[in-house]
Amino acid sequence: MLMAEKNIVVMGVANKWSIAWAIAQQLKKAGANLIFTYNREKSGESLRKLLEKEGFGDSTTISCDVTSDEDIRRAFEQIKTIHSNIDGVVHSIAHAKSEELGGNFYDTSREGFLMAQNISAYSLVSVSRYASEIMNDGGSIITLTYLGGEKVAQNYNVMGVAKASLDASVRYLARDLGPRQIRVNAISAGPIKTLAAKGVSGFSKVGDIVKERSPMKRMVLPIEVGNTAVFLLSDMSTGITGEIMHVDCGFNIVSY
Ligand SMILES: NC(=O)c1ccc[n+]([C@@H]2O[C@H](COP(=O)([O-])OP(=O)(O)OC[C@H]3O[C@@H](n4cnc5c(N)ncnc54)[C@H](O)[C@@H]3O)[C@@H](O)[C@H]2O)c1
Repeated sequence: MLMAEKNIVVMGVANKWSIAWAIAQQLKKAGANLIFTYNREKSGESLRKLLEKEGFGDSTTISCDVTSDEDIRRAFEQIKTIHSNIDGVVHSIAHAKSEELGGNFYDTSREGFLMAQNISAYSLVSVSRYASEIMNDGGSIITLTYLGGEKVAQNYNVMGVAKASLDASVRYLARDLGPRQIRVNAISAGPIKTLAAKGVSGFSKVGDIVKERSPMKRMVLPIEVGNTAVFLLSDMSTGITGEIMHVDCGFNIVSY
């Protein structure tokens, strides 16, 4: 029960394939008390159905559109009135125009570039600001990133640049919140079939490349990302901050 008596906010469960869902399942097994946020009312309804079905019915659900600072502020204020303080946040949110996740990067529109940055990177900055106001010292914030922010990945384009910005934000936020012993880390997950991943052109081929070239000759399992998230949110990792932790069966270490 590594997470007993810890209140953790999970942002980004769209459905049962979401990485945030795999994380939530492992957090619950470890004894955490979970608070879920969702983007739109429609996703709130399907989230509540999923929670009910899977035995998470007693969890709080709160709407939070991360494109609005006001919405983020309100969501964490609401969480405070229900749970007083929190011990951690899972930020598992990204979005870009699907037509810009393919072709040439130089064709990215200004609007699409800013939208990807806004939802996929700036949101962590704003979430960290309002979450830290209600977070106990010694808390932990994690986000989900991808290798496409460090190296060029086929068709990842505008999202790769947003992930590079997210990775840098993790380090600056870790510096800001470090004195309070609040840690900020990212999990760089290997490819996993989810709604967001299907938006990237040619995603299905990436799995074959990973199976062929990664040291472990397979794709990472969602449960493995979930277990790493528990580690990073727990007191087992109190000396780790500002880190981009690859959970990808070693794919990132291979050159050729
Ligand atoms: N699937 C992969 O292969 C993979 C690999 C590495 C990293 N990631 C990252 O993991 C994270 C989760 O993605 P996923 O693959 O589980 O897909 P997903 O589609 O299940 O999750 C994306 C989530 O972002 C949320 N979201 C989008 N816009 C929002 C907004 N304005 N306000 C609030 N929430 C919003 C969606 O509602 C959804 O819950 C993303 O950051 C993604 O880039 C995914």
